[in-house]
Amino acid sequence: MPNKELLLIPGPTPVTDEVYAALGRETMAHTDTRLAALFKEALNLTKEIFRARDGEAYVVAGSGTLAMEMALANTVAQGEKLLVISHGYFGDRFLGVAAALGIQAEKLGAPPGEPVPTAAVEARLRDGGFKAVAVTHVDTSTGVMADLATLVPIVKNNGALFLLDGVCAAAAMEEDMSRAYGAPECRIDLVLTASQKAIGAPPGLAITVFGPAALRARAALPRAGSYYCDIANWRDIMREPSKYFATHPVNMIYAYHAAMKIIEREGLAARFARHAGIGDGMRAALALYGLSSLPAPENAAPTLSCFLYPAGLEDVSFRAGLKEKKLIVAGLLGDLSGKGFRMGHMGNTREDEFLLAIRLIGETMAEFGFDADSEAACRVFLSHYNR
Ligand SMILES: Cc1ncc(COP(=O)(O)O)c(C=O)c1O
Repeated sequence: MPNKELLLIPGPTPVTDEVYAALGRETMAHTDTRLAALFKEALNLTKEIFRARDGEAYVVAGSGTLAMEMALANTVAQGEKLLVISHGYFGDRFLGVAAALGIQAEKLGAPPGEPVPTAAVEARLRDGGFKAVAVTHVDTSTGVMADLATLVPIVKNNGALFLLDGVCAAAAMEEDMSRAYGAPECRIDLVLTASQKAIGAPPGLAITVFGPAALRARAALPRAGSYYCDIANWRDIMREPSKYFATHPVNMIYAYHAAMKIIEREGLAARFARHAGIGDGMRAALALYGLSSLPAPENAAPTLSCFLYPAGLEDVSFRAGLKEKKLIVAGLLGDLSGKGFRMGHMGNTREDEFLLAIRLIGETMAEFGFDADSEAACRVFLSHYNR
């Protein structure tokens, strides 16, 4: 079932034929041992993505927001404090999740497109008494990438858990839970994500990987703030998926397993390098059209770009022009709405699809009266993609 449109929004991302074929297989019993075998392999591959051999992976029906809730409900008790380092809409979402769970959350933000200054994080943590810090690796609303190498040691040296939202990054950017950032205890404690972005499966799965300190935090809680999200209810099922707590989304597990096998085949190092080339290449290519990146290069993500329009280009009609050509991108959000567009460039999208997108954007810019040398833009893209 080849895709009819080129879906370059920041997720869901284009699904490959191989994953569709898996998704479309006959539904079997959620307790069938054949499904359990696939599920176990997919869980092990999930742990590999995050190098979380001493951790536990939970894959349940839901979306990224549920994974955010699962992360907080199992690590931070009602009344305890959470610091949210927010680079936009999805960072802010942690505040809503925390409020629903009775967690006291406080936000450190920054102007759109800029990272929260490290000094502010350090100062707030020093006198804060925070149980955990939530960081969005790539905020999908601004394209800002958090600097893990700087943030992990600051958070851990201040005695808080490091909870990472990897929804717009996992499987495209390093999120290595075994990596000691300076000292052995300076590690990412939890990563959460969802199936529909760089993993390359359709939407429908909430994925949460707990490291040892996050598991200890759950063990120390008298109760988790949720029934469905409580990992104590899921632990036996994730060890032996033929057991029942709640019905597995059987076909999504087939699809997820297929997506994990694609990632395994490509290899993490190659996948991370490919995404780095795509991000730099797409921004360099579209800069030739006068489309500038909202974040500065050092803060811009490999997985997603937020482009600002040159003066005179009108958002709704421009994106409608792209849609007529079957290229789908997303608008900017909030105060930035109308000023540019967001393009997801992650997962299993192919080189020829990116080149097509660059040509279609160039064609559409030309229709709106802007100079756009799409062959030059394609060459610039390829020089990064093949570096
Ligand atoms: C960084 C980030 N976190 C969380 C979410 C929420 O995920 P979902 O829409 O799957 O609930 C998104 C969705 O785009 C996201 O980009």
